[in-house]
Amino acid sequence: MTPDLMAAGAEKLAAWNARAKADPSATGLEPSFRQGVALYVEDITVSFDGFKALNNLSLTIDVGELRCIIGPNGAGKTTMMDCITGKTKPDSGTVFFGSNIDLLALKEQQVSQIGVGRKFQKPTVFEQLNVFENLELALKADRRVRASLFSRLSGEQLDRIGEVLTLIHLKDEAQRTAGLLSHGQKQWLEIGMLLMQDPKLLLLDEPVAGMTDEETERTAELFLSLEGQHSLVVVEHDMKFVDQLTEGRKKVTVLHEGSVLAEGLLSEVQANEKVVEVYLGR
Ligand SMILES: Nc1ncnc2c1ncn2[C@@H]1O[C@H](COP(=O)(O)OP(=O)(O)OP(=O)(O)O)[C@@H](O)[C@H]1O
Ligand SMILES: [Mg+2]
Repeated sequence: MTPDLMAAGAEKLAAWNARAKADPSATGLEPSFRQGVALYVEDITVSFDGFKALNNLSLTIDVGELRCIIGPNGAGKTTMMDCITGKTKPDSGTVFFGSNIDLLALKEQQVSQIGVGRKFQKPTVFEQLNVFENLELALKADRRVRASLFSRLSGEQLDRIGEVLTLIHLKDEAQRTAGLLSHGQKQWLEIGMLLMQDPKLLLLDEPVAGMTDEETERTAELFLSLEGQHSLVVVEHDMKFVDQLTEGRKKVTVLHEGSVLAEGLLSEVQANEKVVEVYLGR
């Protein structure tokens, strides 16, 4: 290659990198799922003042998989989600979204823009707005449709809001002020808001905490209906809920002291002596 061509190439690369930094979706920074892997976490370690919250944690989530993560308080479950979403940078290790996106190189906002949605434990909906308006706002916060921020919703967008309202069991509450919803309904609304952005990977941290039994059961149905189209990572302490989600055939991962203690069917990990000792036997 001539020096001229090399200089031109370097310039292009620098411009691409600058754009990628400003707006990853504008540069075609699209995750590739051709290898069937949605999330690849390898050997991540996070220390807080010398204490290892995560200790060489490795985990792979397949495309369309629904994976439950269980483990005692302080095991590192939330810290793991913090690392995936760019909130916490691990001391070492690798986190890939699809086979090509190095999540550790991205900022929190960029991680959500390329298709990783996260649900925190506490519902954070806009209490003064109604259910429909909350979903509408979530749709318009999506950078890909930013041009339409002040425009009316297209038919397609209205359809999508309708679909999500049905999924989250809030069709009849569309005009209700979000602040008046039950705790469980607020959680569903927040999940609906995440869905409006069509994330490929959804991280859900204790989604049924504080829900009634009936709400918990409906939430499991909702997650099961999302499986396949999205990959889901669900952290929960409620074993009945985990049992419903895993349907007797899906793998669960048990975290303890920042590492994977066991992985297997729920029945297998429930029979695992180490798991009983540190977690389930309590
Ligand atoms: N910002 C922080 N500074 C110091 N220590 C932290 C910080 N965040 C988490 N930790 C510690 O790291 C460990 C793992 O915490 P983490 O919140 O990830 O656990 P968890 O598995 O989500 O627990 P729980 O089931 O109670 O939600 C805990 O000992 C916690 O006190
Ligand atoms: Mg936690």
